This record gives sequence, C-alpha cells and structure tokens, in this order.
Amino acid sequence: MRHTPADIPNAVMGSEMRDLDAENPGATGIIGCPATRSNSEEMPYYQRHIFFCINEREHRICCQDHGASELRDYAKARVKALGLAGQGKIRVNTAGCLDRCSEGPVAVVYPDGVWYSYETRADIDKIIKEHLVHGRVVERLRI
Ligand code: FES
Repeated sequence: MRHTPADIPNAVMGSEMRDLDAENPGATGIIGCPATRSNSEEMPYYQRHIFFCINEREHRICCQDHGASELRDYAKARVKALGLAGQGKIRVNTAGCLDRCSEGPVAVVYPDGVWYSYETRADIDKIIKEHLVHGRVVERLRI
C-alpha cells in the first residue's frame, strides 16, 4: 500500500509522538506542507530525504568525531519503528563529507535544503517529529 504524505502524521500519532508534541518549543515555519499537495502524480518518490554525513578523517575535524554513525543509526531505526520509512514517506541515508565539517555532525533534509547540526538522540527525535513528519524547521538545530 502506498502512503501519501498526508497519511504520515496519523500514522505516527502514537503515544511516543504525542509525548514529543509536548516538547515542541523549538520548531518554526512549515515547509512544503504535504496537506497542501493534491495531485499524487506530482509527489516525489520520498516525501523527505535526510542525509547524515558520517565521514571520518584522520587528524582533521569530522562528523564521525561526534558520534555521527550512532545517531544516523538511531534516526534510521526510529523512522522505521514509527512506520515512516518507505516510498512516499521518509528516507534516511548516509553521506560522505558534506563540506561543513567544522559545524558537524551535520545532516541535510531534502527537498527543503535545510541543514542541521545535532548532538543527542533527543535532537534526532525533534528533527524527525518536527521536520520530517510535519515540515516544521527546528530552528534551534539549524545551521
Ligand atoms: S566530515 Fe561531515 S561535513 Fe565534512
């Protein structure tokens, strides 16, 4: 069954996601609200695609110095556990160096082109809940 982006908020409004709603002081601005799209023929293959740099460089600052792989794995597992992964929904991917090494660890969300730096699993939860699901940029984490 192909899900439309409009299905996603309903699919993830379990108790965990409602808990996250209560912690939502940092999100602002709605980007590409899926509810405004009406023609499924125009839908991208994924509603949103997030790329995590997990590059490692010897003797130079890099995202892997800050736990990028572990937090990428966490994001991937959370998106899957919440039923958000797949066609018409969300994709979590790995990237090499995205050339913002000193701001790392970094991730970028497309098609919005919004960049984040994150430190904790709570940051990842916030990005998933606010941006990937609802299209609201998490300004606190934006770079
Ligand atoms: S190592 Fe991550 S942006 Fe360069």
